[in-house]
Amino acid sequence: MSLTVYRKAHFNAAHRLYRKDWSDEKNNKVFGKCNNPNFHGHNYELIVGITGEINKETGYLIDLKIMKDIIKEEVEDSFDHKNLNIEVSEFKSLNPTMENIAIVIWNKLRNRFDIKYEISVKLYETPRNFVIYNG
Ligand code: NI
Repeated sequence: MSLTVYRKAHFNAAHRLYRKDWSDEKNNKVFGKCNNPNFHGHNYELIVGITGEINKETGYLIDLKIMKDIIKEEVEDSFDHKNLNIEVSEFKSLNPTMENIAIVIWNKLRNRFDIKYEISVKLYETPRNFVIYNG
């Protein structure tokens, strides 16, 4: 029997989508408003799922306090109120699209949770636009 426990988190961050090796014209054509050189922000909503077996002694799949602390350390402390392009090393040469942000978050969490758990990352960039990455 396996279940999934979910924890929600939130961060605000600024970004700009562009490629340095493309002309302004091409960046504008592909990324539109998201290529604004002055950056723009999003209220990101994150839902992390941890799948595994229930511990028969505790009745827990995972201690939510541990999950909360790991998400805070790996995601909120690194991304909240940051300019992703400038202040977050993972995006120095990686476009901070919601797709890439979800993959970066998943990789950071994968390093922290026991391998016996499966991890899923659901990231909302807007209330209507979101991505799910399961590794
Ligand atoms: Ni954007």
